[in-house]
Amino acid sequence: MQLEAKIADPAKRSMLLTALYIAQEQYGYLTKEAVERVATRLGLPVADVYSMASFYSLYRVQPTGRYVLQVCEGLSCHLVGGADRLVDYLRKKLGIEVGETTPDGLFTLQTVQCLASCGTSPAIRVNDALYENMTTEKVDELLETLRGYHV
Ligand code: FES
Repeated sequence: MQLEAKIADPAKRSMLLTALYIAQEQYGYLTKEAVERVATRLGLPVADVYSMASFYSLYRVQPTGRYVLQVCEGLSCHLVGGADRLVDYLRKKLGIEVGETTPDGLFTLQTVQCLASCGTSPAIRVNDALYENMTTEKVDELLETLRGYHV
């Protein structure tokens, strides 16, 4: 049975997404080993599981910082005029480009397409937490709070 057929089964799809999430929590990101273990346990091709992990912005397939800041650049967030401003602000504030991690390993900056929070845009996700109606002032508060956990 091909992946498409297997994940058409809601139970199988749910298991795959959950297993990837648990593996990510354990390994920090979806390492080659983590993807292989999930694929083996669910009886799915490794390449297909990796494709699935790469598709969803919730999953990390590369090493990242402790906090992954995902700024939404979807249409709603773009239209309210916040997305570009927030990305530029974070680039300058953290001293990194999109896709990079700060030298202290705390923050990785990414952009994504729609965090399913269009009514409260602009939105940023930090790991599993969603932050809505974001402003540069709220970004400052957020970074300060996150840094405070590591002093
Ligand atoms: S476009 Fe940003 S949350 Fe949907």
